[in-house]
Amino acid sequence: MTLVKQRSDYTFKYNKTLDRHGWLRLTPAYSVKLVEELVRKTKMERLNDVFILDPFSGTATTGLVAAQTGFSAHLYDINPFLVWLGNAKCASYSQETIDELWESAYRIVADYKLALNDENWEPGIHKIERWWSAHTLRILKAIRRAIVDELGEPELNNANGLVWIAFCRLVIETSAAAFNHVSLSFQDKTQVFAAQTIDIFFLDILNTVLGAAKTPVMGDAHVYQADSRFLPSSGVYYTHVITSPPYPNRISYIRELRPYMYWTKFLQEAREAGELDWEAIGGTWGIATSRLKGWQPERSDLPSEVFDVCKMIEKSENKNSLLMSRYVHKYFHDMHQHFAVLRDRLAVGAQLRYVVGNSTFYGIRVDTEKLLSLSLAQLGYENISQRIVRKRNSKKELFEYCVSATWQ
Ligand SMILES: C[S@@+](CC[C@H](N)C(=O)[O-])C[C@H]1O[C@@H](n2cnc3c(N)ncnc32)[C@H](O)[C@@H]1O
Repeated sequence: MTLVKQRSDYTFKYNKTLDRHGWLRLTPAYSVKLVEELVRKTKMERLNDVFILDPFSGTATTGLVAAQTGFSAHLYDINPFLVWLGNAKCASYSQETIDELWESAYRIVADYKLALNDENWEPGIHKIERWWSAHTLRILKAIRRAIVDELGEPELNNANGLVWIAFCRLVIETSAAAFNHVSLSFQDKTQVFAAQTIDIFFLDILNTVLGAAKTPVMGDAHVYQADSRFLPSSGVYYTHVITSPPYPNRISYIRELRPYMYWTKFLQEAREAGELDWEAIGGTWGIATSRLKGWQPERSDLPSEVFDVCKMIEKSENKNSLLMSRYVHKYFHDMHQHFAVLRDRLAVGAQLRYVVGNSTFYGIRVDTEKLLSLSLAQLGYENISQRIVRKRNSKKELFEYCVSATWQ
């Protein structure tokens, strides 16, 4: 038996230092290296024949690799912050725009000091004192105010996004959030940073962001806000789908994105986060979990193996067995719905690559790769196969797989 390795080069860790890919971190982002391999394998010979789709864009890794390779791509995500971020990452910027942003940045760093003692807007983040010391928070609020005065609030497809991305990085790097686990946790203490230190941080981050933005991207990639269970028609028939959808593992993207989303006003209050996560496949934040209790499936044509595993989870006699069984049912239900509508958006011969992970609930293994493959087969996809990409966890039998299929 061959030993399957953990391969951190196939995770978001590989992306951290890579030009635009490293701008903002999202743990469930997949590795640029893996996407590059998948994009390179696209079989069409002429660039113009390839049109890539990523229905679960996240931080737009697929779009950026595709565009940097010269391909065209459409991406979709349910989360408006990620749509904004993805478009900023995939755009080309002129030298003139970058020079203007530098001038703005110097004005912002000078001007915010005049606003330090004003009553500046504060994001409605729950227990904000766990994230930033009062001193650091005062500085961040004044910087935010100076950015708004200079460039306005973040706007879709506006170059001011580059400065806002740098501000998001600043916000996270001065916070007590620790990212040494699969999702975020908190360090014991918030740090107090002097204004000069924050200035250096901010200009340093801007240097990274604006430096990477200088290199134009050859291809054309755009991110749209949509629910991939009901993919809208764009008039394009996609030749390749390269994506990593959510896994059935109760990880909430909203949880990790909250600081960015509050500071950029994509989120204003806690209730909105739960509402958004209810629309997300596998969403599990706040109201999204309690709504599961009343959830009714719209389709019953799922593979019988999905119902088998849900029954096993339900019978496992744990406090939340019924809820978790519903969670798993809804996850595969929503992915089945996505695969069903996807058929109308594909070119004949389209190739699909879905990077997914398995999971366990109360010791019962949910073989995501097999269950999704059965869904694909039931819906008429062909040449379905799965291969292991990497081992995800040293203790448990958790792996990441690439599920492949074609549409004829
Ligand atoms: C695993 S992440 C994708 C990570 C991405 N490959 C990257 O490199 O950053 C899954 C994404 O699917 C999005 N998503 C979840 N449900 C969705 C839905 N119904 N429609 C569209 N996007 C959805 C989430 O917001 C999240 O960004």
